[in-house]
Amino acid sequence: MITIRKAGTEDAAAIAVVHVEAWREAYRGIVPDDFLKNLSIQRRTDQWVNMLSDERNIYHRAFVAEMNGQVVGFSNFGLAREVDLGFSGELFAIYILQAVHKQGVGRLLVGAAVRGLRELGCSSMLVWVLKDNPARGFYERLGGEYVTEKNIEIGEAKLLEVAYGWKELDKFPA
Ligand SMILES: CC(C)(COP(=O)(O)OP(=O)(O)OC[C@H]1O[C@@H](n2cnc3c(N)ncnc32)[C@H](O)[C@@H]1OP(=O)(O)O)[C@@H](O)C(=O)NCCC(=O)NCCS
Repeated sequence: MITIRKAGTEDAAAIAVVHVEAWREAYRGIVPDDFLKNLSIQRRTDQWVNMLSDERNIYHRAFVAEMNGQVVGFSNFGLAREVDLGFSGELFAIYILQAVHKQGVGRLLVGAAVRGLRELGCSSMLVWVLKDNPARGFYERLGGEYVTEKNIEIGEAKLLEVAYGWKELDKFPA
């Protein structure tokens, strides 16, 4: 059974484990190996404690997905960072352990983030995804539409990121 609930600082360590594991699983061959090797669960835990404990931090809102009492994924959302793109809300991150992909966890975590954004007064949502990431297919399946793309650097790698958008969150598939 999958449970979705709001994340608190007590979840920081579990979220950090998923964050680091999911990065290594999803970005092998896309992000440089050295960068992935140097990811630290302790550093991520500290970052998540800081983010989740400070309501002024734009990254403080998150949901976790639990299966059999274990955190297997999370979504992180808030007011959009680049308002000039015309979207008021943003899905900053969604990461799920590979072992439980394609079981509906992603859809539930995005759905929770959409409800959270609507409570914040957001009527639309944007997400950035690496162009080489197969997760693009997930956003397309959920009705996201191509908005734009930009260059980013992760470690030594120069990569492209694509933005997908949902213009009307009230029409987001429940
Ligand atoms: C992308 C991700 C969040 C999807 O989560 P998930 O739990 O596997 O997705 P769901 O099972 O809820 O899938 C919902 C729908 O999307 C489809 N889908 C999921 N991943 C897909 C993909 N990579 N390509 C195409 N469709 C996909 C599913 O088949 C399902 O379709 P259906 O409703 O017709 O059955 C997950 O694969 C993940 O965490 N990936 C690694 C981290 C990552 O890349 N995050 C995004 C960073 S921007």
